[in-house]
Amino acid sequence: MPLRFDFVVLGGGVAGLSFALKAAEHGQVAVLTKRSRDECNTHYAQGGIASVLAADDTFESHIEDTLTAGAGLCHRDAVEVTVREGPAAVRELAALGADFARRRGGELELGREGGHSKRRIVHSGDITGREVERVLLSACDDQKNITFFPDTTAIDLVRDRQSSHGQGRVLGAYALTPAGKIETYLGRVTVLATGGAGKVYLYTTNPDVATGDGVAMAYRAGAPIANMEFYQFHPTCLYHPEAKSFLVSEALRGEGGKLRLRSGETFMERYHALGALAPRDVVARAIDAELKRTGDESVFLDMTHLGRTFLMERFPNIYAACKAFNVDMAVQPIPVVPAAHYMCGGVVSDLDGRTGCPGLYAIGEVACTGLHGANRLASNSLLEGLVFGARAARAGAEEAKGGAPSPGGVPDWDAGAAGDSDESVVVSHNWDELRRLMWNYVGIVRTGKRLMRARRRLDLLREEIREYYWRFKVTRDVVELRNIADVAHLVVECATRRKESRGLHCTLDYPERDDHNWLRDTVVSREP
Ligand code: FAD
Ligand code: SIN
Repeated sequence: MPLRFDFVVLGGGVAGLSFALKAAEHGQVAVLTKRSRDECNTHYAQGGIASVLAADDTFESHIEDTLTAGAGLCHRDAVEVTVREGPAAVRELAALGADFARRRGGELELGREGGHSKRRIVHSGDITGREVERVLLSACDDQKNITFFPDTTAIDLVRDRQSSHGQGRVLGAYALTPAGKIETYLGRVTVLATGGAGKVYLYTTNPDVATGDGVAMAYRAGAPIANMEFYQFHPTCLYHPEAKSFLVSEALRGEGGKLRLRSGETFMERYHALGALAPRDVVARAIDAELKRTGDESVFLDMTHLGRTFLMERFPNIYAACKAFNVDMAVQPIPVVPAAHYMCGGVVSDLDGRTGCPGLYAIGEVACTGLHGANRLASNSLLEGLVFGARAARAGAEEAKGGAPSPGGVPDWDAGAAGDSDESVVVSHNWDELRRLMWNYVGIVRTGKRLMRARRRLDLLREEIREYYWRFKVTRDVVELRNIADVAHLVVECATRRKESRGLHCTLDYPERDDHNWLRDTVVSREP
């Protein structure tokens, strides 16, 4: 028997929880999370939330910085609503109890990050995401209309193929429960808040849940997907064989951290007038170029001039993590390299989170609202999750109230003749091969030839995964592998189509930006 709700929310990060909190005023909400309730990109966010809160800051300045970072592809309307609705969203979070850093007088202490012309990053030291997640979860727990389903993996969206009035509408999702059963979760409105897909690359700042499930499910359901070529690489992750790409926040450069080569020489001034605080795409490419030129394995982020007391107070989490890997940042520069960090593209959605599939909304990192264009400005994504979570809840509540059909006769999941797998090793091998080929051929700098090579290998892998998927019983590993393969396909497809270099997409075959032909999104969709 299907489980029925008014709102089915896939994902419990900043976007999903912001939606759930508001939607709960209008009906029953189910929140599905793939692992524990708080395991998500949001939990790991360090730097903070960008918003216009200082007396000397203006909306125009934040808008301009966002547009500049986005390299011509931001949708101005999405930028405007995010920036203008940002301060109220941040204040609301503070009113819920978020413990943001404050000055002695009580006003918010604001940090600075790359691409921002002002100090405007609200933060909780260097564990801002953990605080945001804590506060939102605790507020959701006070709401009787919200039910959490942890360790529950959505596999595919349910679409109406039967009723004459709602044909094509998304009715909910099939999901794998902790007991290994596949249940049907039905809602008047279904929300993708599944976050990013960093795991598509070998090295990433993202946790294991970030396998692009939402984009892959939406693509298979026929929703338009855009701008997947713009995968953001964060310039500074701790370089250590056991550090699993631990992020070293951009806020360190905001406080005066210097990027140096092994020789001690600084280099960012050769690449951009803003030096180490240039937009992320510029810094990541500069590091990539310097590593290739020198043959070194990392560059270095030097904080030693700032003193141990300040570093321990302002960046306690990063200080401790570096220390655990025998790097004392108070006396030695931190070895850093770039790693995949943020998906600027995603499921095409409007200013209220509506996608191309009726009944389906997309919010947060999974969505492509047009806010980020070809390159996201630092700390704009927690903000986007807050603002669009609330906007989508308003629109979704209206839709649910306005007679969005309560789904009727939906077929249960059909497992067909699938049996238990006797060769799970295929999954781990394909997983590794895929992430490695994306890193090697579809990384920071691309060429048409490398993209072709990636495409050929991906086609084979996708075929093998498809076969495996239908032959054996569904497991979370297989669901994720299938999704990562679909996401990789979308990144390669979009990157191949874009015949220019812009923002995060850099190809040696077309090194210049071409506004005449390419001042537009790359949109891909397939028949459901
Ligand atoms: P997430 O927070 O990633 O949540 C996704 C949710 O979806 C999870 O609950 C997951 O379990 C669930 N899910 C996924 N697939 C399924 C499925 N198939 N079925 C059920 N549930 C599923 N941004 C900033 O603005 N400021 C920062 O300082 C900052 N620092 C960052 C530092 C790090 C290390 C990282 C990784 C990111 C950082 N970002 C930062 C980016 C930002 O954290 C994310 O973009 C943002 O938190 C995404 O929120 P979300 O709600 O869209 O997704
Ligand atoms: C960071 O703290 O450097 C991450 C900020 C972001 O990804 O927006």
